[in-house]
Amino acid sequence: MPQLYALPDSRIIEIEPHETMLAAILRQGIPHVHACGGQARCSTCRIHVLSGLNFCSPRNESEKALAIRLRLPFDVRLACQTTVTGNVSFLRPVFDALDVKLTQRALRQPRQHLGTQQPVAVLFSDIQGYTAFADRLPPYDLIHVLNRYFEAMSEEIGNRHGHISDFIGDGLMAVFGLSHPVSAVADAVAAGHAMLRAVERLNPYLKQMYDCTFHVRLGLHYGNAVVGHIGAGSFRKLATIGDAVNVASRLEGLNKRYGTTFLVSEAVVEAAGPALALRQGFVTPLKGKKGLYRVFEVLPEAQPT
Ligand code: FES
Repeated sequence: MPQLYALPDSRIIEIEPHETMLAAILRQGIPHVHACGGQARCSTCRIHVLSGLNFCSPRNESEKALAIRLRLPFDVRLACQTTVTGNVSFLRPVFDALDVKLTQRALRQPRQHLGTQQPVAVLFSDIQGYTAFADRLPPYDLIHVLNRYFEAMSEEIGNRHGHISDFIGDGLMAVFGLSHPVSAVADAVAAGHAMLRAVERLNPYLKQMYDCTFHVRLGLHYGNAVVGHIGAGSFRKLATIGDAVNVASRLEGLNKRYGTTFLVSEAVVEAAGPALALRQGFVTPLKGKKGLYRVFEVLPEAQPT
């Protein structure tokens, strides 16, 4: 059976014929970083092959693409993509105390730590005119109001299989599709409508207490994102990262320009099908993005008479 010699650990590792180097390294309990879980979507599992490169499997297409993108030297390989047929010695270049700590935690809680790329529906919301409202209120009142508002929003989101990924001032980002991928878009649209209804229920209270009402704007996009838990110590949160997040955020911001409430992308319209009632469409640039995007306004729900 071939052997690996790992530096700076000075460990000899036996490796099965079709086992990846990453699998063999982890099997020995060596805390080697592998942020994407071995899917050739990062470069954190890279190793520097010192000898035996001729025994390493050639780069596959995924590894080739990443190596070109990051200009990796020929003897730097992704451990998760490489198998060997003879003895290989290598250096693990990603190696400091923090890497070890993070990776040991990942090995204990792999599902929570490692991000996974998946299609998700990302919903952004914010409150129109919030800054002026916040300027008028004492901070304690503001925290009280925001807590009421976010509590109501999170209930509507949670009831439709959504997860809140972030609070940003008066805004929030919710992700759908983690637990119920098939209904991600339908859940997100339903949550958007439910959030607007919840704001209407909150408004009489705001009117009575502060002589104001909230108007909430929403942006929704469906696409790939990497979802995983990030944080330090006891503070952990669900992070969603990727282009889908940027597009959803831009859509929410576009409401201001068009005077709309609920804008969705073409990907949402395609995924939702005819069940989604639309009022109008635009072709528009999105801030910070290249090209033009087809954007649609969701028809508000009929008010009960
Ligand atoms: S773990 Fe991400 S490429 Fe190997």
